Amino acid sequence: MKNTKSMISTIYETLHAADLDALEGIYKNWASDYEHDVINLAGYVGHLITSDLLLTYLKNDKAKVLDAGCGTGLVGEIFHKNNFNNIEGVDFSQEMLSVAHQKNIYQSLKLVDLTKELDYEDNWFDAIVCAGTFTCGHVGPEALKEMVRITKEGGYICFTVRKQEWEASPYMQIISDMELSESWYKLVHETAEYNVKEGVSCQLCLYQVN
Ligand SMILES: C[S@@+](CC[C@H](N)C(=O)[O-])C[C@H]1O[C@@H](n2cnc3c(N)ncnc32)[C@H](O)[C@@H]1O
Repeated sequence: MKNTKSMISTIYETLHAADLDALEGIYKNWASDYEHDVINLAGYVGHLITSDLLLTYLKNDKAKVLDAGCGTGLVGEIFHKNNFNNIEGVDFSQEMLSVAHQKNIYQSLKLVDLTKELDYEDNWFDAIVCAGTFTCGHVGPEALKEMVRITKEGGYICFTVRKQEWEASPYMQIISDMELSESWYKLVHETAEYNVKEGVSCQLCLYQVN
């Protein structure tokens, strides 16, 4: 994998975890230092760019929003400051969820593996935001189909895909197949800064569900 050698060692470990169990173990030990490390050392801005983008389209602060791969709650904090109080966070790390829980900003927090079928009815959320979670060894592009299923018609899905993950997995194919089948259509899709201090970019995407 290119462009990962300079990363702080824990980010490097998460990108190269052998499997989801190993990844879960890394986040378990990292939860208390996660925010310091990604923001101050890596210059992570995934939570800022997704929230800023989604909030320019999603005007109803009563909207039911899923923060998919919420981690310690960086996205939830921004939505909470913008008076959104109907935010559900899901993540597969209990320790990351525990940090998020202390902030008291989510209506609910659940332990969920986003690579599996999701236990939500069709057309459930007004919007899904997924920052920093479509990345190497975490959650792949197949999860987008479940996200579309549980989002209401006219709802939004806003996400980042880290550069190396974008290049390694069939995001382009799956995203354009979903456009061709009119499952969703593109509102914004651009290259954006991601881990600014490490010079790593991402794809920043906002799609509207049909
Ligand atoms: C880089 S962090 C991003 C967290 C948060 N969204 C942010 O912007 O700070 C990636 C998150 O994805 C979670 N994650 C990784 N694989 C997952 C999976 N299969 N299902 C659910 N969450 C997962 C990790 O536990 C971690 O909290």
